[in-house]
Formats: sequence, C-alpha cells, structure tokens
Amino acid sequence: MSDLQITIRENGSLRIDEAIPLVDHEGNVITTPEGKPYSLCRCGGSSNKPFCDGSHRTNGFDGTLAAQKDG
Ligand code: FES
Repeated sequence: MSDLQITIRENGSLRIDEAIPLVDHEGNVITTPEGKPYSLCRCGGSSNKPFCDGSHRTNGFDGTLAAQKDG
C-alpha cells in the first residue's frame, strides 16, 4: 500500500495529504500549494474549482458514503 492518501471527508472535500501533482484533462499542471496538502471540491459548488472553498458547508451537500471492503 502506498504512503500517498486521499481522504474523502464526510459531506465535504477530497483531502490530498501529500504534494501530489494535479493536472487537467489535457495534462496541464494546475498549481497547488507547494509542499502542502490541499482539498478538491466534491460538491460542485466551489467558486475556486477544482479546489474546495468551503461552500459545501452551506449548500446542502450530502456526500454520504461508506467504504466497502473487498471480498
Ligand atoms: S467540497 Fe468544499 S466547496 Fe465543494
């Protein structure tokens, strides 16, 4: 298992805990906070996509999910 981890926050963003490069659908690099974790919008409401701007807290986003275990 890799040390890299993406955390799906409860009713919130995707937390990228390492400095994983982020690219668009054409492979263009999207600038991220250098050497710092960042969060990607999962609710679609951010005005700073692809990053989370906290809008999920007020737009009623319900991102309920539960991890499914293999087997
Ligand atoms: S998940 Fe935070 S603004 Fe969309």
